[in-house]
Amino acid sequence: MTSFGRPRHHFRVTDSTNERARELALAGAPGGTVATADKQTSGRGRRGRGWAAPSGKALLYSAIVRPLGREHGLLPLAVPLAVCEAVESLAPLECQVKWPNDVWISEHKVAGVLLEAHPPDWAVIGIGLNLAIEADEFPLDLRWPATSVGGAVSAAAALAAVNQRLGSWVDAAPRRVLEEFAERDALRGREIRWEGAGSAVPSGAGRAEGIDDKGNLLVATEDGQYLSLGGGEVQLALRAAG
Ligand code: BTN
Repeated sequence: MTSFGRPRHHFRVTDSTNERARELALAGAPGGTVATADKQTSGRGRRGRGWAAPSGKALLYSAIVRPLGREHGLLPLAVPLAVCEAVESLAPLECQVKWPNDVWISEHKVAGVLLEAHPPDWAVIGIGLNLAIEADEFPLDLRWPATSVGGAVSAAAALAAVNQRLGSWVDAAPRRVLEEFAERDALRGREIRWEGAGSAVPSGAGRAEGIDDKGNLLVATEDGQYLSLGGGEVQLALRAAG
C-alpha cells in the first residue's frame, strides 16, 4: 500500500502543483510524494481547461504514484472515491461521483481530478478540492455548478484526510473500486448527452447504465444500442427533464 504525504513540498504560489509533481517524478521522487500550494497561477483542469481557486480556499494537491502497474487501470475511478471518503470524514456531507472523476455534493462539483500518467513509470494525481470558496467567487463560465466543503474545514485537515484515503484506494482491487463506484455513481439511470467520443458514435444521447469493468461509461441509446464511452474522450451534459 502506498503511503501519501511524505515527502510533501508546499508552495505558497506556483503555476500548477501537477507540474511541480511531474518535475519531482522526473527527478526520481518516490511514490507517495505530494506537492501542494496555497495558490496556482495556471491550474490545469481536464480536457485542456484551466482550474482556478482563490488563495488558501481550496486544497490544491498533486501526488505521485509509482511504479504504475496493471493494478492501476481503474485509478481514474479510485481517486474520486478516496476524495468522497475524505470529504465525508471532514463534514456531515454525502458525496457522489460524476463519471469519470468529478466529486459532487447534491449535484454541485466540490472537487475535480486530473490524472497525468507516464506509464509504466509514474502518474500524477491532481486534486482540486473546494474548501471555503463562496458562491460568488467561482468563475462564471463553469460547466457544472460548484460548491465547497464549508464548515471551516482547514487545508491541513483536508490534506491529512486525502493522504489517508488515497492510501487505501490507489492500490485497491478492481472489484472493490467498481462496487464502490456503483454505490456513488451520480449518473446511473440519468439521461445524458455526450460529444467528442472517438468511437463510431461520436455524439449522442441516452441513459447512463453504469460502468464496465474497464471503467468506461455504459449508455443505452433511444434506438436500443448499448455503447461504452471512454473517460478521456467525451464531454457530458445532463439532459433536462421532460
Ligand atoms: C477538473 O477539470 O475537474 C480537474 C481539476 C484538477 C485541478 C487540480 S488543482 C491541483 C492540481 N494541479 C493542477 O494544475 N490541477 C490539479
